[in-house]
Amino acid sequence: MILHDLVHDLAGDLVQDVAPDKKLFKKKSVSAIKVTAANKVPDLFGDIKQNLLQAPYSLPPKYFYDHRGSLLFDQICNTPEYYPTRTESKLLSRYCQHIIDSLKVHHIIELGSGTSRKTRHLFDACQMLDQYPQYWPFDVCEPMLIETAQKLMLQYDWLNIQPLEGDYSAGLAHLPKPDGHSLYVFLGSSIGNFSEAEAIDFLKEVRRHMTTGDTMLLGIDRLKDKKVLEAAYNDKQGITADFNLNVLSVLNNETDANFKLDQFSHQAIFNEDESQIEMYLRSLTDQTIHFSAIDEELNLREGEKILTEISRKYSLSGIDNLLGQAGLEVMDHFEPSNQYFSLVLAKCG
Ligand code: SAH
Ligand code: AVI
Repeated sequence: MILHDLVHDLAGDLVQDVAPDKKLFKKKSVSAIKVTAANKVPDLFGDIKQNLLQAPYSLPPKYFYDHRGSLLFDQICNTPEYYPTRTESKLLSRYCQHIIDSLKVHHIIELGSGTSRKTRHLFDACQMLDQYPQYWPFDVCEPMLIETAQKLMLQYDWLNIQPLEGDYSAGLAHLPKPDGHSLYVFLGSSIGNFSEAEAIDFLKEVRRHMTTGDTMLLGIDRLKDKKVLEAAYNDKQGITADFNLNVLSVLNNETDANFKLDQFSHQAIFNEDESQIEMYLRSLTDQTIHFSAIDEELNLREGEKILTEISRKYSLSGIDNLLGQAGLEVMDHFEPSNQYFSLVLAKCG
C-alpha cells in the first residue's frame, strides 16, 4: 500500500526483521504529513470575525496550542489539582495490557496526541505482548508532534511513527486509512471540549472512518464535586491562567494584535446547568484591541469576558448516550474507585 511505503521513507529505513512482527528502524529525521481539511472550517481570521468581534465573545480552544501552549498544557498535567491526567494514566497503566491483548492492533491513530505522554502505556503493553503497531499521532501543533516523535523513536526502537498535522474538527475524511486493524485513541477528555451535539458528530465522523475490526479508546472526564472540578482549572501555581492567557499571545503573533496580557484575568467556573467547566478571559478595563493584519478592532468593557474553552463532564448515562448516538458499541469500560474518569473501549455498533 502506498502509505506504508511513504512511512518507511519518512520515518526511517528498515534495518532488520527481529521477530515476526517486530522491525527495527534506523531513524532518520521525521516530518509530519499535512492532513487537509475535509470540511470548510474558518481559519483564525474567520474565527475572529465570526466569534470574537461581537458578544458573546468566544474562540475555539485549538488556538491555545502553539508550542508554548502545548508545553503549558503539559505542565498543567503535573499540577496536584489537575486530576484527569494522573487518573487516566493510572487506568491506562492498569488496563492497557488487557486492552492490547484483546485486540490485534496494526495501527494506533491518536487524535490530539500532544506529548503522547499517556500513549506510552499502550506502547509498553504492545512491547510486552510482542505486538508492534505503527503510530500515527495527529495534532494541530506541528512542533510538538516532531519533538514528541523524536523522543519516542529513542525510547521505542521498534516504533514506526508517522506524525500527521491537521485540525480534527475539519473532518477526518483525508486521514490515512492504513491496511490492518486500527485503534483510534482520543485521550485526556478532549471530547469534553466539544458541545454534546458536536461530540456526537465528531464520534460519528471517527466511526465513518473506521473499518471492520477497528476500535476506539476514549478518555472521558466524569461529573464530580464542583470544588474538585473548579480547583483543577484554577491551579494554585497559575499555570492554567498562563495557558489561558497564552491564546492572547497567539492572537498577537498571528494577527498582529495588541492584547496586553496583564489587562485580562483568568476565570474558570463550573456551570452546573450545562455540566461544563467554562474558561474565560475577563477584561480588567475598558479597552480597544486592534488586529492590524485584518484591520478589525474589538471593544471590551471592564468585566466583559471571552469564552476560551468549555470542558464538559459526563455521567455514566451521558457516556452511554454519547456513544449510542454516535453508533458506537461499548466493549469495555474502566473507571477508578472514585469514578473520577472513564476509559471506554468501543467498536462500530
Ligand atoms: N491527548 C493528550 C493531549 C491533550 S491536550 C493528553 O491527553 O494529554 C489537547 C491536544 O489536542 C493538544 O496537543 C492540541 O494541540 C490538540 N488539539 C486541540 N484541538 C485540536 C484540533 N482541532 N485538531 C487537532 N489537534 C487538536
Ligand atoms: C485538553 N483538554 C481536554 C483540557 C481540558 O481539561 O479541557 C485542556 C485544559 N484546559 C485547562 N486545563 C486543561
